[in-house]
Order: sequence, then structure tokens, then C-alpha cells
Amino acid sequence: MTEQSGDADGELEARLAEQDSFDPPESFVEQANVTDEGIYEAFEEEWPECWERAAALLSWDEEYETVLEDEDAPFYRWFTGGKLNASANCLDRHVENGARNRAAIKWEGELGETRTYTYGDLLNEVEAFAASLRALGVEEDDIVTLYLPMIPELPIAMLACARIGAPHSVVFAGFSADALATRMNAAESEYLVTCDGYYRRGDALNHKQKADKGLRGVDHDVTTVVVDRLGDELRHFLGASAHDYADLVAEHEGESVAPVARDAEDMLFLMYTSGTTGQPKGVKHTTGGYLSYAAWTTHAVLDVEPEDTYWCAADIGWITGHSYIVYGPLALGTTTMMYEGTPDYPDRDRLWKLVEKNGVDIFYTAPTAVRAFMKWGTEYPERHDLSSLRLLGTVGEPINPRAWKWYYTHIGDESCPIVDTWWQTETGGMMVTTLPALGTMKPGSAGPPLPGIDARVVDVSGEEVEGGNAGYLTVNRPWPGMLRTLYQNDERFLEEYWREYSDEDGDEWVYFPEDGAKIDDDGYITILGRVDDVLNVSGHRLGTMEIESAIVGTAGVAEAAVVGGDHEVKGEAVYAYVIVEDGQEGDETMRERIVESVEDAIGPIARPEEVVFTPELPKTRSGKIMRRLLEDIASGEELGDTSTLRNPEVVEDIAASVEQTDE
Ligand code: PRX
Repeated sequence: MTEQSGDADGELEARLAEQDSFDPPESFVEQANVTDEGIYEAFEEEWPECWERAAALLSWDEEYETVLEDEDAPFYRWFTGGKLNASANCLDRHVENGARNRAAIKWEGELGETRTYTYGDLLNEVEAFAASLRALGVEEDDIVTLYLPMIPELPIAMLACARIGAPHSVVFAGFSADALATRMNAAESEYLVTCDGYYRRGDALNHKQKADKGLRGVDHDVTTVVVDRLGDELRHFLGASAHDYADLVAEHEGESVAPVARDAEDMLFLMYTSGTTGQPKGVKHTTGGYLSYAAWTTHAVLDVEPEDTYWCAADIGWITGHSYIVYGPLALGTTTMMYEGTPDYPDRDRLWKLVEKNGVDIFYTAPTAVRAFMKWGTEYPERHDLSSLRLLGTVGEPINPRAWKWYYTHIGDESCPIVDTWWQTETGGMMVTTLPALGTMKPGSAGPPLPGIDARVVDVSGEEVEGGNAGYLTVNRPWPGMLRTLYQNDERFLEEYWREYSDEDGDEWVYFPEDGAKIDDDGYITILGRVDDVLNVSGHRLGTMEIESAIVGTAGVAEAAVVGGDHEVKGEAVYAYVIVEDGQEGDETMRERIVESVEDAIGPIARPEEVVFTPELPKTRSGKIMRRLLEDIASGEELGDTSTLRNPEVVEDIAASVEQTDE
């Protein structure tokens, strides 16, 4: 792209604006991992045995006996009888197969320092830390909470837990102290690995303070390990129950820790995610099914080869990072990149600089990032040679055709396919996307379901809609990467995902992801977004109830309703409509206190974009808040029918206040 003049760019944009489908470039197809169009049919014919192909990407200590057991559906069990260890699959077998000196993790800190861990290095440190965890008392099946930012010790701790059969529960470092406490209490987790701090936009952030505050809210004793990330930049003190990570690793250096053979169905990790209620859901993923599925999709969709340098620019604190920074790529023995900081520090070309410097082959990110790149302009990618790239991907939210084409042109130089991958924390891995060498790409549409995945678009009664129509997305057959339950809450698992569309006799179980979608005649699915009270802010999943309860917890607030409003870069932004108590002022001080409450309860990612004070909320005659109306107001859309409201006059007042706040 570098040689193109402004005019040529204009012509190009015009040409692309017309084009609504793109075929994968020949050069990509020639080398791709999956090139046989028959794969879709083969998976249908062989289902569920087709999933043996995923399991075959792993090394098993004991072969499984059954691919799928469905007697207790929807509590499905995959690869039963099989035994394996996730850390052995991600490390030992590569070291044994001659990849000891291949880079496993290439990390760059925000200030520019770098660390490379070969597979050999990584195995050593994982063993040393696994031995440390054991010495601290961690036993098989104990849940270890990891509250760490994007530093190598995070994947090391994950793999160390996996090695000794202790499930991890990673809490995103951007979450608040309260959010940490809630998750540790819910998981009854007695171990925490955290750090002193990390860098954000060049500043040293104090993370330990947050962790300590969180610990004060935990109901039981906790043993803590602290990674010293910042050295002299930020001095910290270890309390009586805290241990220094480096000291532990030095003490146990060179110890070998045999990987514990886990049952395929044993828990590998828990990941808390937002749902409709204020209480986060503990999504349980297993060792055999999850890992097979993460490895298979990394192979088939991201086209990863061991020789590649692969970069998923997400945070390991979310499911994307678990599956596609850590488990999928390391299971395949490739080089996975990690970057600590923000994409615009010190300048807006930081990511492209990293791509050039490391010769990144595959790049996977969220549409919110693409929209930011697009806003910043082409000059930043144009400063760098991005020709090492051969595949691009997106995840987490819908990507509009304009952003897709920008990514395709200015990052991929029209020579990289883009996979727009729909999936969720609960699905463990990708579910709906084109296979990069096979499918024609249609910007804005994720594509067909992956081979073996029975995703459909249905109407309210569960009947499939005709091509060209919208409805609800469902998954009508199980898959290996699926969540097995919500931690200690089978009932909520059934209620949230299975009751809506399954038949009442329990003969046919249908998974409901709570997304709306549209299907084309050719079976391509366009995801329209959540149909429940969950927001997607910059690709981060947040529950409106969680935010509302934080706001209502602010002194002087009587009632609050939170909805998502359209946002150019974030996709959705948090809009809070707030009623203050009699005698209280909805003023700037109150606004600041509300924002602070949200940051304390969840974290800065949930900070409201707008706080709109209103004397009333629009309610139906039965007293339900009309959220759709509030969403339309937030997005500046035409307001629909308000005649069913008990208090239609309030709508105009609210719309006027929003306009005022916008000015
Ligand atoms: O609404 C869908 C959206 O993100 C939700 C899942 O969020 P989370 O569990 O945090 O996982 C995000 C990373 C996998 C989905 O219910 N979503 C995810 N991918 C896409 C998407 N929406 C549109 N297109 C996608 N490719």
C-alpha cells in the first residue's frame, strides 16, 4: 500500500465499496491447512466421530473410549475414558519432538523491553512454578485465581496450574477489586497469583493495591503469589501470606513436575462472564474437549503452522486470549506473541511496528481495534512493511463492511483472507466463520457454521427462518469445546442456555447463545448482536444488571437503567439513565460518584459514556422499563411507538437531556 497515492486510494475505496464478496487469494489457498471442500460433508457423515480429528491433534496418556456421551444431555461428555494433560500437550511433547529451541512466547512490554521463551524455557519455568504452587499447598482440583495483566507469568501460571490439575480462574486485570473478590468468593478460590503493577500508556499502574483491596473482600484465607513486574519503579511489600514469584521459581528451579493425567472431562479452567443477572457466570471448560477444540480451530480457521509467528492481539483475561493466545497456538507448537500495552503507545503505529519487527504471519483482533485504526488513518500502517501477514481475523463483535474492507486493504494488502469468527466464552472456540481457503468472504457476515457445527437461525418458535431473514441464533448439536455447566449452578446452566428452544421432553437439546442473527440463502450468517441484557463495549462483555446495581449502590440514587448506545469505535457504549432520590441533585458531583461506583464495582471498561438524569424512566403499563426506547434514544434513532407506555411524556424529556449532554 505504501506506494499508493491519495487518488489511487480513493479509486480503490470506490472499487471496494461496490464489491460485496471476496475470494481467498490463490497464494493463500496453496498453502492452507484445510483445502478440501468435502470437509463439511465429511463432518456431517461422520458426526460425532468427525471430532476425532480434533482429538488427534493432541497427545493422550490414555485413549478415550467414547467420542460423545449424551445420556445426561445437555450435560454432554466428550472423549470419555481419555486422559491427558494440557501443559504436556502445550510444552513437553514439542520439546520432545525437537522444538526445544523454537520460540513459544515472544513478549514485548509497553516500554519496549522484550522477552522470548523457547519451548524449553517455558517448560522449565512452568515446572518450577508448578512445583512452587504444590509447595504452597495447591492440590489437584483446587481453583487458583490469576489476576495478572499481559505479562508472560500469566500463561506460565495457567500452564503450571494445568500441569498439576488445578483449574485456573483468570480475572481480567482491568477488573476492579470488588470484581476480583466476587469471583474468588464464588469459586471459593484460596490461591491468588497477582503482580505489583504494569504499564499503561507509559505509566506504572499499581495493581497490587487493587488486589489487596480485593482480598479484603474475600471471605476465606488466601495464599498469594506476587510477580514483581515493575522492580524499582514501584516498591511493594509482601504481607505475611504473600510470596514472591521470582523467589519461588528460583527455589524450585530445575525440579521436574510430572504432568498429572487428567480425565478428559476434568475441569481445565473456570472463566467468569457476564449474564443477565448481576452475578457473573462461572463457565466451566474441560481438559479434553476444550483443548481439542481450541487446537482444531486454531489449525483449521487460523491456519496456524508450527513455523508461524502468530499474534492474537487480545487480553488473556478474556476467553479469546485463553483459546487463541495460550491453549490453541501452544498446543500446535507455534510462536505466540504477547504485547503488554495499548496500540497507540508511544504512537499509533505500535502494532504495525511489532508485526514488521517479528514478521507476524497471522493477526487476529477485535473490530473495535479495526475501527480505531481506521479512524487514526492509513499513515500508521503505511510506515511499516506488513508483507509477512498471510491471514487476518476478527472476533468479539460484528464488523461492518467498511471496517472489514479497510482491514482487508490497508493491513492485508488485498492478499490476506479475513476470518470473521463468531463464538463466545461458553463455546470455548470459534463456531461460525468461513474456513480461510474455502469460503468466499462476504464483509459483515461471519460465514457458515464450521464443519460439524449445527448453527441455525430460527424464529421465536424455533423454526428455521427462510434465507434473507433474521431471527435468533441456535446451536442444535453439541460440540467438544462447549461449556459443561456453570460452576456449582447446573440449574442456571439449564435455564440460561437450554430451556428457550429445547423441546419439553428433553429429546432434543438446543443451545441458545442469546444472539440475534440473519441468514442468507447460501447459509451465511450475519450476527446482529445480543438479544439479552448484555452489552458489548469494545468487544468486552458487560451485563447491564451489574452496572445498574453499581449505580444504584451510589448514595442518593433511587433507580437506574443501563443500555447500550451505538458508538463509532467502541461498537456500543454504556448509557446510564438515573433517577436521583428526592432532595438530591443530578449534578456533576453525582455524575462523578456514579462513575466511581461503576469503576469500583467492575472496572474502567464499564464506565458510562453518558449519565442522563431523568425524573422518570419510560415504563410499560405493567411497570417494565422500555429498554428498547432508551437504546434508541442513546443511539440517536427515530423513536418507535410509545403508545404502550404508562408515561409517554417522559420520552421527549429524556431525549432532550441526552442531546444536551451530547453537546
Ligand atoms: O454477541 C456475540 C459477540 O460476543 C458475544 C460473546 O462474548 P464473549 O463471551 O465475551 O466472547 C467474545 C470472544 C469470543 C457473542 O454472544 N460476538 C462474538 N464474536 C462475534 C460477535 N458478534 C458478531 N460477530 C462476531 N464475529
